[in-house]
Amino acid sequence: MAGVHVRNVSKSFAHGGSIVEILRNVSISVGEGEFVSLVGRSGCGKTTLLRIIGGFVHADAGSVLVDEAPVRGPGSDRGMLFQQPMLFPWLTVLDNTLFGPRAEGSFTPGTRARALELLGIVGLAGFEFHYPKQLSGGMMHRAAFARAMMVDPEILLMDEPFGALDALTRTGMQQFLLDLWERRRFTVVLVTHDVEEAVLLSDRVAVMASQPGELVETIPIPLPRPRTYEVSESTDFVDLKRRVRQAVEHARGGAAIVGAGRAAAPY
Ligand SMILES: Nc1ncnc2c1ncn2[C@@H]1O[C@H](COP(=O)(O)OP(=O)(O)O)[C@@H](O)[C@H]1O
Ligand SMILES: [Mg+2]
Repeated sequence: MAGVHVRNVSKSFAHGGSIVEILRNVSISVGEGEFVSLVGRSGCGKTTLLRIIGGFVHADAGSVLVDEAPVRGPGSDRGMLFQQPMLFPWLTVLDNTLFGPRAEGSFTPGTRARALELLGIVGLAGFEFHYPKQLSGGMMHRAAFARAMMVDPEILLMDEPFGALDALTRTGMQQFLLDLWERRRFTVVLVTHDVEEAVLLSDRVAVMASQPGELVETIPIPLPRPRTYEVSESTDFVDLKRRVRQAVEHARGGAAIVGAGRAAAPY
């Protein structure tokens, strides 16, 4: 397993003839097996930071280290779940799920059975031979989640993975992620709008300000593990949720958009 170290990362984009600073001097370390969420207003640079960690976007300054090694591009040590499900349209749900093991040559006799098991867990039993265009948006997200889990990444980077799901499915997926993380203890960086989700899942919640994106506060979540959804009824949970929400609301930039559980703004 590996930890992630973001060191003084800055990033600007050209926008309508001018240069806009998106991330300014962001540093954060996520320990091996730690679960950290990034929260902040829409547009504060969460996705950009996650893409830099994933190696899909290059920082203008600073570096990302996975253990000791600088990130120079995407790698199979870092599984990435994008905001959009990004399934291969020409592959069935099962073949999408089997894509990673096939691509990295780790396909064994048990691989197909594991893919089928994972698809069952995410509620896609009976849809294994459907193509993405035959699925609802939520089902595509769940298929993408199963695909990301198949390769057993040491580091899992997730960008609003459950944002498009209905409340019941989202709760089921969060519990599935909690259980899986409890067993495997991979390192997680989760971007979310959802303060409740961040508190439920994380060891620490990192709060970003926007324009430019900067890390303003990291709030530890000392709720007992293993966690189930029931923890969300405790006073400690409610207090932590309030603390995180206030930190987001007080962070510089933009209009307040963070609601009680889910944000109103699109992402
Ligand atoms: N490739 C790009 N080119 C230009 N601007 C971009 C690019 N990617 C992101 N941005 C801008 O960077 C800002 C932060 O975006 P993003 O990282 O997606 O924020 P968040 O995920 O927190 O909502 C936004 O204003 C967005 O328009
Ligand atoms: Mg985003």
